[in-house]
This record gives sequence, structure tokens and C-alpha cells, in this order.
Amino acid sequence: MTLRREPPRQVPSPTPHFTNQRDALALADAAAGAPTTGPHLLVFAGQPGIGKSELARFWVHRRAADYPDGHFHVDLSDAPDTAGLVSTALREFLLAVDVAPSAIPDTLDGRAACFRTWSTGRRVAVVLDGVYAPSQVRMLRPGPGRSVVLVTAVAAVAELDSHATVIDLEPLEEPFARTLLGHLARPDRLAAEPEAARELLAMCAGLPIAVCVAGALLKCRPHRLVSALVGELRDERARLSGFSQIRNKDVRAMFAAAYGRLGREARSGATVRSVRTRAAGPSPRRPCAPRCGCRRVRCPLR
Ligand SMILES: Nc1ncnc2c1ncn2[C@@H]1O[C@H](COP(=O)(O)OP(=O)(O)OP(=O)(O)O)[C@@H](O)[C@H]1O
Ligand SMILES: [Mg+2]
Repeated sequence: MTLRREPPRQVPSPTPHFTNQRDALALADAAAGAPTTGPHLLVFAGQPGIGKSELARFWVHRRAADYPDGHFHVDLSDAPDTAGLVSTALREFLLAVDVAPSAIPDTLDGRAACFRTWSTGRRVAVVLDGVYAPSQVRMLRPGPGRSVVLVTAVAAVAELDSHATVIDLEPLEEPFARTLLGHLARPDRLAAEPEAARELLAMCAGLPIAVCVAGALLKCRPHRLVSALVGELRDERARLSGFSQIRNKDVRAMFAAAYGRLGREARSGATVRSVRTRAAGPSPRRPCAPRCGCRRVRCPLR
């Protein structure tokens, strides 16, 4: 007897501290409910750290029951060999739905066609995280039916598809950023120092990643005053003021402070890659806008 596997549930769980994003969620719900013949294509766009990936994870988990045939996930960010990664992801998708290894084609086009065939008429959700080329979406897209593809991208991937719904994420409003910071660092610490808390939140500029880093900086020193952290960040901001290409020096100061606090071993770990990248500036690995030609997503020339 062969045991049929459960439908894949590859999308990572969202943070338990998920906050707000009501407008974006409502837009995504409306777009996914509109009549269509092909899969719905939703693009969450916005600056790094604004919460695109978290929102995609949260949305899929919230709407899990609407996509009973499978939830697929692939992280495309920082991938030097996009074709290889897409091909491997398709193989994983097919294995997860019990396609025999010997039946999986060797070529990228063959695997893409095989996934489209399997998914046609089914209801699946596919999260393509960190997309930077339309071809990645074309290859990983399910076949016609009431499926959904959620793309996250720093810049809206133009020319993707005229049917894509692009949802630009906004920074968190102050009350929501405060709630998130309170979850991470204890609300009573913020209430005890309202002025310092206000300044710290202003430095975060509503960027969830900055709020998370600020929360982590406070949490790892439970007896430290919020005002002491604000003072440290002011110093970092002054130090960084010579770098004119850094757009938001408060946020950059936050990452520099967090990265500087890590031990040597931790600095080389994969988990801090994101903090290090943001402290250092734009990523050299992802492609920039076509008109620039450099390999940076956040090239200062854009
Ligand atoms: N709405 C939210 N509530 C709570 N935490 C959030 C929220 N949005 C994002 N975060 C947290 O902020 C951090 C950055 O979020 P995320 O990775 O989703 O950003 P991103 O826009 O995908 O960044 P990148 O462009 O670098 O991929 C994560 O630690 C995430 O858990
Ligand atoms: Mg992301």
C-alpha cells in the first residue's frame, strides 16, 4: 500500500507578533477573489525590510483553507544562479506532490511544464520570495485555475504581467510600530520612558525590520534604559553622516549598532547576513534597474 502524502505546506509560519498591514491584506483578499481564468498574481512591493515576505507568509496561512491542494514556497533572494535555483525549486515542488523522481524532466522548461500540468484546475498558493526577474515568475507559475501566486519584490517587477495586482507596502504607522516594539521589548519599558520611546520609534521610520532590530537591542539588555539606546543610535547616526549615499541614516545606524554588538562568530553566521547587508549598504549581488546596469537592487543611481 502506498501512503498518499499530505498536500505540501512549504510556506514558513508568520511571526506571532504580526502587526497591522490591514490595507494590504484587504487589497490582497480582493484581488484573489476577483474572477479569473489563470492563477491570480499578487506582487508585494516595497523597500527592503518593509515586511513583504512576512505579509506573504501571513496571507497564505490566513487563507490556507482556500488553497487546499498545496502551499509552495521558494526564496529567490541573493541567488547568483537563478535558472539553477528555479529548476531545483520546480523539482522540489514536483517531489512534494508525489511525482516520481524518474518522471521529473531534466530541463527547466520541462519541469515548468510538468508543474503547470499538475496544478491546472487545482487550487494552490505559490510564494515566490525575493523575485527580481519576470522569467522567474513565468517558470514557477501554476497552470490555469483558481490558484494564487504571491511575489515579493523590492521594486515592482515591471512587464511581469498586465494582470498582476501590485500592492505597495507602506511603513507601519506609529501606534502599530509601538505595539510591535512593545511585544518585542516589553510595553512597560516604553511607557516608563515615553520621550525616548517616541524618539526610538521615529528613528525606526515605521520600517518593521528596524523595529525588530530595536526590539532585539532592548531585549538583549533588559535593564538598559531606552534613552541609552537612543543615545547610542544618535552617535552611530553622526558617524554615518559622512556617507551621503545612505538614505535613512537612523535606520542604517540601527543596523550598524546591532551588527557591531555581535561577536565574531555570530557575525559570520547566515542568520545575520541580512543585518550585515543592511548595515553595509546595498547588495552587490542582485541586479539593479535595467537602465543602470550595475548588480545592485538599491543602487544610489536609481
Ligand atoms: N507586519 C509585521 N508585523 C510584525 N513584524 C513584521 C511585520 N512585517 C515585517 N516584520 C518583521 O520585520 C522583519 C523584516 O520583514 P520582511 O523580511 O518581511 O521584509 P522584506 O520587505 O521581505 O525585506 P527584504 O526586501 O529584505 O526581503 C522580519 O523580521 C519580520 O518578521
Ligand atoms: Mg523579503
